[in-house]
Amino acid sequence: MKRSKLTIIGAGNVGATCAHWAASKELGDIVLVDIVDGMPQGKALDLYESSPVEGFDARIVGTNSYDETAGSEVVIITSGVPRKPGMSRDDLLSTNTKIVAQVTRQVAEKSPNATLIVVANPLDAMVYVTHKISGFPPNRVLGQAGVLDVARYRSFIAEAVGCSVEDVSALLMGGHGDDMVPLVRYTTVSGIPVSQLLPKTKIDAIVDRARKGGIEIVNLLKTGSAYYAPASASVAMAESIIRDKKRVLPCAAYCGKEYGIGGYFVGVPCVLGTGGMEKVIEVQLDAEEKKMFDSSVQHVKELCAATEKFLAAL
Ligand code: NAI
Ligand code: 2OP
Repeated sequence: MKRSKLTIIGAGNVGATCAHWAASKELGDIVLVDIVDGMPQGKALDLYESSPVEGFDARIVGTNSYDETAGSEVVIITSGVPRKPGMSRDDLLSTNTKIVAQVTRQVAEKSPNATLIVVANPLDAMVYVTHKISGFPPNRVLGQAGVLDVARYRSFIAEAVGCSVEDVSALLMGGHGDDMVPLVRYTTVSGIPVSQLLPKTKIDAIVDRARKGGIEIVNLLKTGSAYYAPASASVAMAESIIRDKKRVLPCAAYCGKEYGIGGYFVGVPCVLGTGGMEKVIEVQLDAEEKKMFDSSVQHVKELCAATEKFLAAL
């Protein structure tokens, strides 16, 4: 059977860790691209040399060129600068718009049929840039945020309940900012509503911590941002596409009529398979949830508008 090909752009913390998770899951052959001479080559070789010990079969190539990426099924775009303490994700807009636009052009030329998973921040705006520059159909452009954000939320719920993380199921929507919307009403532990297991004050504190989960790690690391969980989340999306698993995952996905959004990529539950984003699932939101979601979507729209001046200058 022909192996799938997964390209990862940016061989920094998130990119290299994506390669690690993807190789250990035998998702396919992996191409790791970065602008730094020797670094993607070194990391790819090092990871490949772990394969006899770990027992995975994958060809892992590090490169500074896009030639080796040709014909990829999935491309994860992590190239971009991360936050430092005191910065918001939005502070990265100018630098990362230029990087992501330049990278997308080359990716699209070599892999015109790929599904693109954007990770670089500010996430919601970078998905917009990638879609615009690639010209790909919107179902083949996605952003990774919700899988990470909901994983943080699920971890904190499991810790508070004292149960396995596997048994916590939850939904989170909206943009990848402090106004993201963890949905308590759709949070259960083996089917039991979390509101029956934890007091409201505790749940509120967990929601707040999940919203600020990114900066919590930035403040601890001081030199960069999170990468184990973000990479794991990105690879979960890639796996669902490559293996056509049809997982329902919260992703920054294109919403036309859905939720009345009118043509933006925002965090919603959707089905991921060979066709990329195969379906947006519309869930019922009550008045308070809708208000929070609308406010988050408004922020996403403002961020997208703010990229235009940087795109015009390219
Ligand atoms: P990093 O600094 O460790 O790695 C970024 C890599 O991109 C560097 O190796 C750099 O050389 C490379 N790069 C820069 N320009 C490039 C270009 N034109 N072509 C190819 N490679 C290029 O940063 P890290 O921690 O890996 O984060 C990457 C991005 O992902 C940041 O913007 C960060 O904010 C974002 N992020 C997003 C998350 C999400 O949930 N959406 C979670 C974690 C990080
Ligand atoms: C995070 O949430 C930095 O966006 C990244 O960790």
